[in-house]
Amino acid sequence: MKTLLIVYHTGGVKTAQMAEAVERGARAESGVNVVVKRCADAGPEDLLAADGLILGTPENFGYMSGMMKDFLERVFYACEGKVNGRPWAMFVGAGQDGNGAVTSVERIVAGLRLNKVHEPIIGLKELTPEILSGCEELGAAMAAGLAMGVF
Ligand SMILES: Cc1cc2nc3c(=O)[nH]c(=O)nc-3n(C[C@H](O)[C@H](O)[C@H](O)COP(=O)(O)O)c2cc1C
Repeated sequence: MKTLLIVYHTGGVKTAQMAEAVERGARAESGVNVVVKRCADAGPEDLLAADGLILGTPENFGYMSGMMKDFLERVFYACEGKVNGRPWAMFVGAGQDGNGAVTSVERIVAGLRLNKVHEPIIGLKELTPEILSGCEELGAAMAAGLAMGVF
C-alpha cells in the first residue's frame, strides 16, 4: 500500500484547520496509508518512506514558517536524489498574501525533484468553506492518485 505523508506547521489554528481538511479528504480514500506529522516531529525517514507529500505552512514575514524551513533543512541532503519524481503539493495559511511561502517552499522542493501535481492552496484571512473543501479535495486527489497509480 502506498503512503501519503502530510507535514505541516501551525502557529495558531488556520493552517491546522487546513491540515485537518486535507487529512479528512485523504482518509476518505481507501487503499492509501496516510501519515500526518507536525514539522517538528517529521524527519528524513518519513519522507523516504512516503510515495507522496503534502506540505502545509503559515506565511511568516513573507516566507515559509521557520519550522517548515527547519524540516526541509533536516531532510534535504538525506533525501536528495532518493525521492525524484514523487508527487507533492502544498497549502498555506496567510493573512494577506501567501505567495512568499509558496515560492520559498517551491524553490527548495525543486531541488528534491519532486513532481508538483496540484496548485498550492492559499487560505487568506478567515477560512471559507470553499478553501476548506479545496483542501479536502487536495487530500482526496493525492490519495486517489497514489492508490490508482496515476502518479
Ligand atoms: C510573525 C508573523 C508574521 C506574519 N507574516 C505574514 C506575511 O508575511 N504574509 C501574510 O500574508 N501573513 C503573515 N502573517 C499572518 C499569518 O500568516 C496568518 O495569521 C496565518 O493564518 C497563521 O497561520 P496559523 O494560524 O496556522 O499559525 C504573519 C503572522 C505572524 C505571527
